[in-house]
Amino acid sequence: MMADSPGTCLTRRDLLKLSGRTLLAVSLSQHCLRAGYASEQGAAKAEKWVARLDNISRQLAAGKISGLQWQEALDEIYGSAPLPELLKTIDFNRLSDQLASRGLGTRGEIFHDISVGPIPARDRTSGKPHETAIVKIAHVKKGRSIPPHGHSNMVSAFLCVSGEFEVQLFDRLEQTDKDMVIRQTVDEKSAAAGTWSSISDYRNNIHWLKAKSDDCFLFTAKLIRLEKEKDFRGRINVNLKDAMQLGSQTWRAPIITARQAAELY
Ligand SMILES: [Fe+2]
Repeated sequence: MMADSPGTCLTRRDLLKLSGRTLLAVSLSQHCLRAGYASEQGAAKAEKWVARLDNISRQLAAGKISGLQWQEALDEIYGSAPLPELLKTIDFNRLSDQLASRGLGTRGEIFHDISVGPIPARDRTSGKPHETAIVKIAHVKKGRSIPPHGHSNMVSAFLCVSGEFEVQLFDRLEQTDKDMVIRQTVDEKSAAAGTWSSISDYRNNIHWLKAKSDDCFLFTAKLIRLEKEKDFRGRINVNLKDAMQLGSQTWRAPIITARQAAELY
């Protein structure tokens, strides 16, 4: 049984061993797993959906399927997400209030690791490869973005659970130390709850999500370090405001730092 599976209780001694940040994460994940199911039927629906996400992600982590196959499976899994039940399962109302009230300074986005069903919260201390997806809830302030960025050796998928986003996706055609040649594949001006997108090294490597309303939240799943021989890069930020158009829907965009991306987007 997972350490934070439903029904597991921490003793007072356990709690005293935990630092504040860890304690918050444990508290959130435990609360999430106990939180207000509408009914046993609703709980079962959400659990079944999470089990599908967990299963396909474990297959990818084990090298049994490709990143592209994971994306194709996620199209079907995210496309059939039982949103009301999922949101109850993760206690979304409470979590979204907490994230929206956090002071982000100059940042426009915040990601928070969660635990759901068989998918445990990320253990950042072990250094071991993850056997399933890392799942999070992300909040983006209105008018700000998850800035345009590519990746190396990872997959991720965003499911909009609240609010309205503008979503742009691009294929990476070429990359140097200084820039990236990209071709737009998706330009969705109004993506609302229930819509989704995914990235991999092989399809839609670059994404850019702008928040258009105050209540912009995403459920995200990602897996990293999938291919042993490849370098892992979580975010390779590009500046589309300073990109040179090369042809129809194709640009050469300079690579910028995370700080520059936060300032610009
Ligand atoms: Fe990303």
